[in-house]
Amino acid sequence: MGRIAVLGVFVADAVFRAERMPRIGETLLGTGFQLGPGGKGSNQAVAAGLQGAGVDMITRLGRDTFADMALGVWARAGVTPHVTQDPDSYTGAAQIFVDAATGDNAIIVAPGAASDLGPADIDANRAVIEGAAVFITQLEQPLDAARAGLAMARAAGVATLLNPAPGQALDDDMLALCDYITPNETETQDITGILPQDDASIARAAEALKARGVRCPLITLGARGVFLDGHGILPARAAGAVVDTTGAGDAFNAGFAVGLARGDSAERAARRGIITAGISITRHGAAAAMPTADEVQKGLEDAGWV
Ligand code: RIB
Repeated sequence: MGRIAVLGVFVADAVFRAERMPRIGETLLGTGFQLGPGGKGSNQAVAAGLQGAGVDMITRLGRDTFADMALGVWARAGVTPHVTQDPDSYTGAAQIFVDAATGDNAIIVAPGAASDLGPADIDANRAVIEGAAVFITQLEQPLDAARAGLAMARAAGVATLLNPAPGQALDDDMLALCDYITPNETETQDITGILPQDDASIARAAEALKARGVRCPLITLGARGVFLDGHGILPARAAGAVVDTTGAGDAFNAGFAVGLARGDSAERAARRGIITAGISITRHGAAAAMPTADEVQKGLEDAGWV
C-alpha cells in the first residue's frame, strides 16, 4: 500500500451531550462530557493509520497538554508526525455540542498554532508529500497551505483529495488541483451555489464541480450515502444505532484515501469510506470512534462489498 500524506489540524474536542441543542442565552444541563482527540486532518490520519496505511501528518501544534494528546493518539495509530511546535501559541481546541436524541452536532473550532500553517510548511515536507500515493487536506488550516500542498502533490503525480470542510468558496485554480473532492451538502453549496437536495441538483452540482476543474467529485449526503461521479449514489450503511456523527466525514475520507492508496478503484475506495463512516457513527467521539482494519474488513464482508 502507498503512503498517505495528510495536511491538516489537530484539536482537542470538548464534547458536551444534551437532549437538545442550547438556545442563545440559555444555560442547559448536559447529559455527558468527553475530552478527546479531534480535528479533521488528525481524525483522517488516525482513521487511515488504524486501517494499516502508512500515514504522515503535517501540522503545527503548541507545546502543551493538548499537543501531548496529539502525539499520543498518533503514536497509537501508527501515524508519523511532521510537526512544528510553537511554544508561543497553543494547540487547537473545539467545542462540540451533540444532540443525544439524533447524534447531530454543532462545532466551534479554534485551530491555534495550526492557523500559522503556510506554504513554508509544505516546502519543508516536500519529500513526504512527493513520496506519497495520496495527499489529503481540508480547510481548517489557511487556504494557501492547502493550495501549496495540493499543487506540490499534483506536480509529483500524487493523487490529490480535498475534503473542503469547513465550507467556503473556492476558486477554479484550487479546484483544478483536485483529483477528488468530498464536500457534504452545504459545502457543495458553498462552492457551486447549488444545494444538492435531489437527484437532479446532485447531478448539476457534480457537473459544476467538474466544469471548474475537479477530476472526480464525490458529494457526501449523510444518511443517504455518497454520490460518486459516474456511479450515482452509493448507499450509506450504519453498523448499528447512531449515537454521534462527529467525525463521520473524516472517517469516510480516511477510508476512501486508504482504498486509493491500496490501488482500489474509486468506487471500491468509496465503499471502504462508507463502511468506515458507518462504524464511526455508532460510537462516541471523533478519533476515538475510528474502526480498526479488522472491523472495516468485517464491515465490507458483511455488506458483500469485498
Ligand atoms: O470533523 C469533525 C471534527 O471537526 C471534530 O473532531 C472537530 O475537532 C472539528 O474539527
